[in-house]
Amino acid sequence: MKALILSGGKGTRLRPLTYSGAKQLVPVANKPVLFYCIDNIAGAGIKEVGIIISPETGQEIKDAVGDGSRWGVQVEHIIQETPGGLAHAIKTARTFLADSPFVMYLGDNLIGDDINRFIDEFNNKRPDALILLKEVDDPRQFGVAEVSKDGKVVRLVEKPEVPPSNLALVGIYIFSAKIHRAIDRIKPSKRGELEITDAVQRLIETGGRVESFIIDSWWLDTGKKDDILSANAVVLDEWLKGDIKGKVDKQSRVLGRVSIGKGSVIKASTVRGPVVIGENTLIEDSFIGPHSSIGDNVKIARSSVEHSVIMSESELTDIERMDECLIGRRVRVSKNSRHKALKLMLGDDSVVEV
Ligand code: TTP
Repeated sequence: MKALILSGGKGTRLRPLTYSGAKQLVPVANKPVLFYCIDNIAGAGIKEVGIIISPETGQEIKDAVGDGSRWGVQVEHIIQETPGGLAHAIKTARTFLADSPFVMYLGDNLIGDDINRFIDEFNNKRPDALILLKEVDDPRQFGVAEVSKDGKVVRLVEKPEVPPSNLALVGIYIFSAKIHRAIDRIKPSKRGELEITDAVQRLIETGGRVESFIIDSWWLDTGKKDDILSANAVVLDEWLKGDIKGKVDKQSRVLGRVSIGKGSVIKASTVRGPVVIGENTLIEDSFIGPHSSIGDNVKIARSSVEHSVIMSESELTDIERMDECLIGRRVRVSKNSRHKALKLMLGDDSVVEV
């Protein structure tokens, strides 16, 4: 079994952050989303990992991931010249994949489960494809599957107005080499992409056996600001371990599960977990509330932050209440008059005075 992680794409929904960086490297609980995917793949014992990268953000991904030795896997970076769709990404990786079955993992997706169970299911049943599904409240915004009573996938539809079920396609699939022939037979969709839903539909129509697995753990797609904040909250809730390496002075209180990296200093402040604070960060006369992730080399003074992600080297000064904010790197936010709560999404290098 090989793995193919999709880390190309346009990332339009996360602009301006994606003007200056790959969306798969946006941190969730201070760790890039992509690293959770690699953890999960390596944890399943897969050794050969292809990563689809774009010409624009590929180098940054290469620099962050390297050759995969940190995870005990071999990574091959595969450039997709244009973001031609998920099935186009598989086509681009054809040489790497050869005739092997493979897990396809969208590099901006996070699930609360490990993928071993799905791989075991695939190995036991040996279908042509195994797709992961999740029950959702509003299926109209997802790829949706119609599934027979015995779990076989009958039909897939992309963002249907009248959904045939409430089962959305999770961004993790396992394919046999038969998917390549199905991809060769499809044409670009109206939006000009080779769609994976069309390829799987073609596989079904040509007699392929497509099985499904309904996951009960959480699943998050980090393609938009609010999705990142939700993912950050869930990961902090479920996976954060309290660990204080930095300094907390006597006037400060640290409550609940909090991780503070080395070289960081908390002065006259309250930190209420779950919160993660990176390295060499200074928090002074401030309140850091639940579900916040603060990166490395950040300075926060006389401010209050909750449910937010603040990336490295940013500075917040005199901000009375920051709630549900996603702040890029090297951003400076300062205040010079009294205002109510702010809701901001700021790209790297922004400077805001309110
Ligand atoms: P999407 O989030 O569906 O697409 P996108 O990255 O272009 O984002 P947006 O809709 O905001 O413009 O992609 C899911 C994942 O697959 C993501 O990690 C990017 C990756 N991808 C590729 O690697 N190649 C592609 O051709 C496409 C469309 C996506």
